[in-house]
Amino acid sequence: MSRQILVTSALPYANGSIHLGHLVEYIQTDIWVRFQKIRGHDCRYMCADDTHGTAIMLRAEKEGITPEALIGRVWDEHTRDFAGFHIGFDHYYSTHSDENRELASKIYLRLKDAGLIEVKTIAQLYDPVKNLFLPDRFIKGECPKCGAADQYGDNCEVCGATYSPTELKNPVSAVSGATPVHKDSEHYFFKLGACEAFLREWTKSGALQDEAANKMQEWFASGLNNWDISRDAPYFGFEIPDAPGKYFYVWLDAPVGYMASFAKYAKDNGLDFDAWWGAESKTELVHFIGKDILYFHALFWPAMLKFSGHRLPTAVYAHGFLTVNGQKMSKSRGTFITAESYLAQKLNPEWLRYYYAAKLNGSMEDIDLNLDDFVARVNSDLVGKFINIASRTAGFIHKNFEGKLADGVANLELIGDFQAAAGTIAAHYEARDYAKALREIMALADRANQYVADEKPWELAKKPEAVYRLHEVCTVALNCFRLLTLYLKPVLPKLAGEVEAFLNIDPLAWDDSQSLFIRHRINAYNHLMTRIDPKAIEAMVEANKQNLEPTPAPAPARHAEAQAHAAQPAAAPVADTISIDDFAKIDLRIARIANAEHVEGADKLLRLTLDLGELGTRQVFAGIKSAYAPEALVGRMTVMVANLAPRKMKFGMSEGMVLAASGDAPGLFILSPDSGAQPGMKVK
Ligand code: 2FM
Ligand code: ZN
Repeated sequence: MSRQILVTSALPYANGSIHLGHLVEYIQTDIWVRFQKIRGHDCRYMCADDTHGTAIMLRAEKEGITPEALIGRVWDEHTRDFAGFHIGFDHYYSTHSDENRELASKIYLRLKDAGLIEVKTIAQLYDPVKNLFLPDRFIKGECPKCGAADQYGDNCEVCGATYSPTELKNPVSAVSGATPVHKDSEHYFFKLGACEAFLREWTKSGALQDEAANKMQEWFASGLNNWDISRDAPYFGFEIPDAPGKYFYVWLDAPVGYMASFAKYAKDNGLDFDAWWGAESKTELVHFIGKDILYFHALFWPAMLKFSGHRLPTAVYAHGFLTVNGQKMSKSRGTFITAESYLAQKLNPEWLRYYYAAKLNGSMEDIDLNLDDFVARVNSDLVGKFINIASRTAGFIHKNFEGKLADGVANLELIGDFQAAAGTIAAHYEARDYAKALREIMALADRANQYVADEKPWELAKKPEAVYRLHEVCTVALNCFRLLTLYLKPVLPKLAGEVEAFLNIDPLAWDDSQSLFIRHRINAYNHLMTRIDPKAIEAMVEANKQNLEPTPAPAPARHAEAQAHAAQPAAAPVADTISIDDFAKIDLRIARIANAEHVEGADKLLRLTLDLGELGTRQVFAGIKSAYAPEALVGRMTVMVANLAPRKMKFGMSEGMVLAASGDAPGLFILSPDSGAQPGMKVK
């Protein structure tokens, strides 16, 4: 019977780029969704950008744009990167939407009616210069346990202690550099403690992996704290109904974003929202998440759903983190790899999909991307085993049989075994044990290759009397190839589409595993997949190497509550002093704007050609279109950062940066030297 399944992946923050750590989850989910669809189920994959919070507000401010403009730009980048990896969302929305505002408010008001909201006055650290309550990660100071300097407000990276920011010694605001003061304010709390009996029951519902259910027991044992769901203005988010100046904490409206994404999709596609989200819903709701955000999805979220009159999740599937070459992703080693930079090297996204699938087993264990193993595994399995079957047999069908497969095959044993494997492989996919599924599939590929090696079609082709045998052997091999393609289709959707075109068949569905592929005209074979060139991997790692800023690098994966947001690169403090040596690292030069032109498709950018005298010319993309017509710039002298690492942008390489001033007042002003300054002169 056909199932109705609503599937989600966690909503990525709208203040950072998608990287290979994120992709573990989106690839894991996408494979599962594609599998369900190929099985004939009614499966809808929802996601959105997670757009609210202090970090996004401050980053927009730093860039001199509105938060709306920032999240709009990041949405474009995220959807581009996901599409690049064939992540097939049915709808990708934003938490900054009308639907989300309405649903978050409705849920909150229902929780309030149920007596589950309480208001308490609490003291927090406040930045008296920025007039802002400071989230934990925006406060730095000395660890109260070991005294280490320059530690964040939530935990010490030297001794590992966790504490509250008010315990830090000599705290400093990472936003302005000011000394924070204690300030009282009213906060709204969701009474999680009052939901304990329900949550204990829910833990037994089978929605959680065993490891997660065990974790829940630990949380129950240490007691459930009520959850602070409000933040004071200024905050980028939704104002709480009847509470002026108070905003929903980003984590309150983030999971509601799953619903809101579906609400918009339902409206556009004529689906009944309540049939999927109402308390009596008969559909399935499956959340894929990282293990770091289990607390939110296994405690807060089901309690919010339950006590606001909604259905509960059918399953919450948590995965582990990604390591690269056995270590945490690292900017200095070049292993903090963005999705964009992978694609920029022309690396095939399906190679990564395959490799991740080969490592994923449905547990919460971390998975490792070993770059040498990646090359070896993909080249051996996909090119050496899978594609090889077609490339060694399809040509004969064309040359000797006018592209037509045999009318029947005498020996059905091998094909029969391939057909019989469909059930086991499906069970592995269903259980998210893609590693086992791929092991089964590759074992079949080995058998097909052995068959071809034993039958030697290239020798049969030399003997006129063996023509029937040749036809049969190639037909059997292509039957095997077709079934392997079907079994790999959730992982390799693009390649499967190309094979379908080559075999001249309709899109493969799981039931096709039981049919025989004979009496059929196929198209000419063109090579379907190349090997990975290890040089492209080296180039990608090189392109991701960054000199570390003095602030600690963000952790690779998404973070739990205390660390939310500030884990993202954009949240780096802005007001730290730098030494004269730091300043000397910046190579500022006088440049003459030799040419300036519009960039097709870019709203804010101009392409500048900068003349640096003896140092040559540089191409720089500058976000100054709103302030300057290109022709007004040509011939002007200005100041540029000449040793900024080149950045690959959508429109080409940007090889530096011109300096421009902006502030609260409107306008953008590029710098000019006094007359007499020559191109290439050093600015110090
Ligand atoms: O940890 C994160 O990256 C969050 N943006 C995930 C939100 S998932 C859901 F609750 F919206
Ligand atoms: Zn410490």
